[in-house]
Amino acid sequence: MPHTIVIFGASGDLTSRKLVPALYNLTRSGLLPPATRIVGFSRTRLSDDEWRSSLRESTAAHAGRDALDEATWRDFARTLYYQPGDLGQTKDMARLQERLTAIEAAAETTRVYYLATAPQFYEPVIATLGSLGMADESAGPRRIVVEKPFGTDRETARGLNERLHAVFREQQVFRIDHYLGKESVQNILALRFANTIFEPVWNRRYIDHVQITVAEDVAVGRRGGYYDSAGVLRDMFQNHLLQLLMVTAMEAPVRFNATAVRNEKVKVLEAIRPLDPTHVTMAGVRGQYRGYLTEPGVAAASQTATFGAIRLEIDNWRWQGVPFYLRSGKAMSCRTTQIVIEFRQPPLELFGGGRPAAHREANRLVIQIQPAEGIQLHFHTKVPGEGMRLTYTDLEFSYSREFAGRLPEAYEPLLLDVMLGDASLFARADEVEKAWEIIDPFVRAWSTAGQPPIAVYEPGDWGPLASFEWMVKEGHAWFDQCPVLAQAT
Ligand code: BG6
Repeated sequence: MPHTIVIFGASGDLTSRKLVPALYNLTRSGLLPPATRIVGFSRTRLSDDEWRSSLRESTAAHAGRDALDEATWRDFARTLYYQPGDLGQTKDMARLQERLTAIEAAAETTRVYYLATAPQFYEPVIATLGSLGMADESAGPRRIVVEKPFGTDRETARGLNERLHAVFREQQVFRIDHYLGKESVQNILALRFANTIFEPVWNRRYIDHVQITVAEDVAVGRRGGYYDSAGVLRDMFQNHLLQLLMVTAMEAPVRFNATAVRNEKVKVLEAIRPLDPTHVTMAGVRGQYRGYLTEPGVAAASQTATFGAIRLEIDNWRWQGVPFYLRSGKAMSCRTTQIVIEFRQPPLELFGGGRPAAHREANRLVIQIQPAEGIQLHFHTKVPGEGMRLTYTDLEFSYSREFAGRLPEAYEPLLLDVMLGDASLFARADEVEKAWEIIDPFVRAWSTAGQPPIAVYEPGDWGPLASFEWMVKEGHAWFDQCPVLAQAT
């Protein structure tokens, strides 16, 4: 069956930097289903050809390959159409509907509506799609992709879910979190559930604590207007960090399908201990990089956190007593996303000459999500020669050494999954609401008036000093290493 992808917000950054390059790359790899058309809709007045040529440049810049393949681009460009219009105007949306019907030439078609607009337009678009009967599936499946941010707290997320469900069934809704499209995130499922050796130690008996860090070296830059009202909790924690936590902590699903996988993920969120207000302030640290206040769009005395670190406890049989530390920030020392599983110390110290084992670093499994994707296992070994002198060493798996070619960008598998109707890597309605329920108390506590002023950190640091001190009080130390793996050249 042919496919039509309708992009609302077609002249925006997401379309030119991520969506269209991903669709082009899928075409180039021969993965885009045949007879797929892409129809852009936004207010800018452009013809089909003008849209095609503006996308040619942005795709060349963002597709992540050396140069556009001319023959592929020519074929791909023929599948691009543009319809100017205002999504707040029903008559413009009705014109879009007519255009789609003409392009699809009455054939049964799978249609995907992609909301790549600013979030305030989600609800009007959904309502108009409903009133024009555009979610009706008598001429083929109709699906809708909703970008983050999905609401700004639990109440708004619930409201958005209600608006969606008034028009679409839950099976038609794909809430995207691009972290789930990353190869190395999907590989956590393979690591845990395609192997037997990790499962026996993947629990409170052997694991001391878990650290999930998403550090970015970039500052807020041009996005100050959005970022100042979002902050790091809404921008990164409610979605990406909790997704990483869920795939690390979930039980094995009974099958690898959307229902079973998402059931297990939601159970993790349900097991997270609710925090009362006094707890919240003790369970995290916030910070702001020096210079943030002078970024365009940022309020002069803003107390918005550009760095956050929080502790979550999962009250279930597997994880009881194992703290999960989540940390993210802008303008940090380097770009690294890593999950560090820190194991307990051996019960008896044989080689310390009477000193306790705690002086030695514990075993660690470092899952390096990006850049330089891979996995490292840290352990002790004997130094050759006299006596039992030990050194810390590692075993390593690196994507770039193991596999030739580039890794697909996160949007590529996700777009393909939407076309195929597989929602395993998309958030379900209850999942996003539950995720907000966990993050909302931190947002409230961090924005309450009368808080001590936010801790400032220097760009290029691993966050404020308070974060190191807090971790020491927790009885641990942050694993502050820029990507542990090097990209093979
Ligand atoms: C986005 C956030 O969702 O994720 C950005 O809005 C952040 O602030 C980005 O920079 C990080 O994504 P990635 O794939 O570069 O780690």
